[in-house]
Amino acid sequence: MKKYFIFALILILSACSTKQDVVKSASVYPVEVNKMAEGIEIDIVDLESLDSINIVVNKTHDLPSDYEPEDLILPEVSTTKKLYIREVIHEDLKEMFNDAEEAGILLSITSGYRSYSYQKTLFNNYAARDGIEAASRYSARPGQSEHQTGLALDLASQSGKCTLSTCFKDTDEGKWLNANAWKYGFILRYPEGKEEITGYMFEPWHFRYVGKNEAQKIQDSGLTIEEYYDTEK
Ligand code: DAL
Ligand code: ZN
Repeated sequence: MKKYFIFALILILSACSTKQDVVKSASVYPVEVNKMAEGIEIDIVDLESLDSINIVVNKTHDLPSDYEPEDLILPEVSTTKKLYIREVIHEDLKEMFNDAEEAGILLSITSGYRSYSYQKTLFNNYAARDGIEAASRYSARPGQSEHQTGLALDLASQSGKCTLSTCFKDTDEGKWLNANAWKYGFILRYPEGKEEITGYMFEPWHFRYVGKNEAQKIQDSGLTIEEYYDTEK
């Protein structure tokens, strides 16, 4: 299937007048198109389609206010409240929680899918409390939160120690996730020292599912999603 898609894209590439046209019509980025033109087999990563596990959502890439994933489910892992996630991440999520438990690490999800309207309420409350500028450093405006994709999770320890606090990074659970989450397709989305790039302060608890293949590549690169996919150009 993947080979067929690549073959089809190469056909489109040769039919188009410029590579730039292909980039727009196929939602892939020039580096990939160039590699394909050279005959190098690569994975196609769809950074734009709403239901893509690789969609980029940040302060310059908004989701529509009416977007809600169609495959939301209640996860079969520990949560701190009733919450939903996308089914597409469920198998890898369960594997991660099970492996963590075998290593003595007891995890819980404290936030999963959030609707546009819920994010709006959250942001407005934070802005009323701390001011818009301060709130914007830790809370996404409605339409700009990865939680609306159902692919982002705020993770905590079952003990509740340092939940949603910077000190989570020093807990056994925070350390385990930092070292291992990528193996299950989840990347630490807002690393320390990257606020100018991601737009948000360090969040050692916020993990974003991108699939195992991409997670490994992003992890190996040491880059954020914005840098790895060069999304701000
Ligand atoms: N805390 C992250 C940035 C969010 O609100 O989605
Ligand atoms: Zn989060």
